Amino acid sequence: MEAAVQRTKWLGKSWKFLEVTTSTQDEAKKWVREGAPHGALVVAEEQTRGRGRLGRSWFSPPGKNLYFTVALKLPTSSPPLSTLSLLAGIAVAEALRSHFNAQVFVKWANDVVGCDGRKLAGILVEGFKDRSGTDWALIGIGVNVNLTEDELPAELREIATSLQILLGRQLERFQVLGTILASLEAWWEDWISQGIEPLRKAFAQLDWLKGKKVRLILPNGREFEGVANGITEKGELRLILHDGSEHNFTAGEITLRAHGTPAKP
Ligand code: BTN
Repeated sequence: MEAAVQRTKWLGKSWKFLEVTTSTQDEAKKWVREGAPHGALVVAEEQTRGRGRLGRSWFSPPGKNLYFTVALKLPTSSPPLSTLSLLAGIAVAEALRSHFNAQVFVKWANDVVGCDGRKLAGILVEGFKDRSGTDWALIGIGVNVNLTEDELPAELREIATSLQILLGRQLERFQVLGTILASLEAWWEDWISQGIEPLRKAFAQLDWLKGKKVRLILPNGREFEGVANGITEKGELRLILHDGSEHNFTAGEITLRAHGTPAKP
């Protein structure tokens, strides 16, 4: 752990390492309520109730992967919380590309994927207020590091991957953590000072969906189909529908469409 937080100026300088916990998100929230500083980091070797988005669980076996949460205090005027998952995705993808030469991409809005679209890392951003009314963001990140194909549960084998699978070698997990934290810290500083424009530029280089035919299922169940065309200045997904009109979406689940024409909204 010491080595992992040596690369940063402030992020993760206060940290907790837990052999096992329910979820690093729960631990971080508890810690903030007890007075954790901005940039506090919770890392777990294993999670018994690792959470994904939309109430899903996150596969969190011991000894193989990274599960961590950073607690960040939000200034009174910051870009929308929804753009933090893009920030985290870009920070993870850039760190893995530049330090380990991994060919990874960001899949709007929350996933880091390999070039075959299988998920390598998931991001969960939760906002809450502490007792004094200050807004906090908890950025939870799970990265599959040293899992082999055989170690993936059958139901994840088609949709998940790991750095070990992508690179063909084992990596030192805390070295991976250190590179991600340094990247997150730099992107957070840019986000605070410059908003999301720098993120938008970086996203354009890492956008796995760009030009692909996709189906988007909104949180209310409505479905749209179209061609993904990057993101707006607010971090929304731009979809070009069958009639050439463009619609922007703040949230939803994306699946790829193999064939056919985009349906009407
Ligand atoms: C998703 O893809 O649905 C998000 C997955 C987020 C998983 C991480 S692991 C560390 C942190 N603790 C959790 O319980 N979830 C996040």
